[in-house]
Amino acid sequence: MSDIIQVFADRRSIRSYSEAPIPDDILERIIRESYYSPNAGNKQLLRMVVSRNKETNSYLGKLRNCVTGKFWYPERGDWKTTTDEELESVPNAFYEAPVVVHLYGPKDFEFAEADAYIMANNVCLIARNYDVGSVIQSVAVDYYVTERSQQIKADWQIPEDYVIRAHASLGYPKDGFPEAVKHDLYADPLFVD
Ligand SMILES: Cc1cc2nc3c(=O)[nH]c(=O)nc-3n(C[C@H](O)[C@H](O)[C@H](O)COP(=O)(O)O)c2cc1C
Repeated sequence: MSDIIQVFADRRSIRSYSEAPIPDDILERIIRESYYSPNAGNKQLLRMVVSRNKETNSYLGKLRNCVTGKFWYPERGDWKTTTDEELESVPNAFYEAPVVVHLYGPKDFEFAEADAYIMANNVCLIARNYDVGSVIQSVAVDYYVTERSQQIKADWQIPEDYVIRAHASLGYPKDGFPEAVKHDLYADPLFVD
């Protein structure tokens, strides 16, 4: 049982990936094993798309960054009217990782976001167990505001009442796994009897 603590300690967010593909059997394990994740009410409502499509991942990664940037900084324009033309010089939120796990959940389920981040984190931890790097990408706002993004969602057979909730990027780190970050910003826990 103690090996899991070592996986916790060794996991780091990876933001630069090698071109090496993740072998199919390893990827399959990471994804299948992440289905053990706890989820609210055990309803198991999340939909997961494991995309190796470079072009689609890059489009969605740029869209996510562009729309989120405008959402946070309204002076950049109205995020709801973001167009494909605006994406050209925007960095890809998924750091060109060879695999991106896109997690969708129902729009009106209050625990969908929590379910998605728990699942994303478990994907990352399990990936580390197989020496695969990863990073979570947050969703601050439903960024599927373009026709093309809606079409991708339809092509991936995501129900209309579902929205993007979280992502996890996967791949082999270009420069290995970095040292653990310091966790000294947290206030000390309070133990009470
Ligand atoms: C809810 C959540 C959202 C995150 N969103 C992003 C993100 O959008 N992009 C990113 O590069 N990292 C993201 N991260 C990763 C954190 O930045 C990272 O976990 C933190 O800096 C600690 O570093 P470590 O994961 O290497 O230990 C997110 C992590 C969490 C838990």
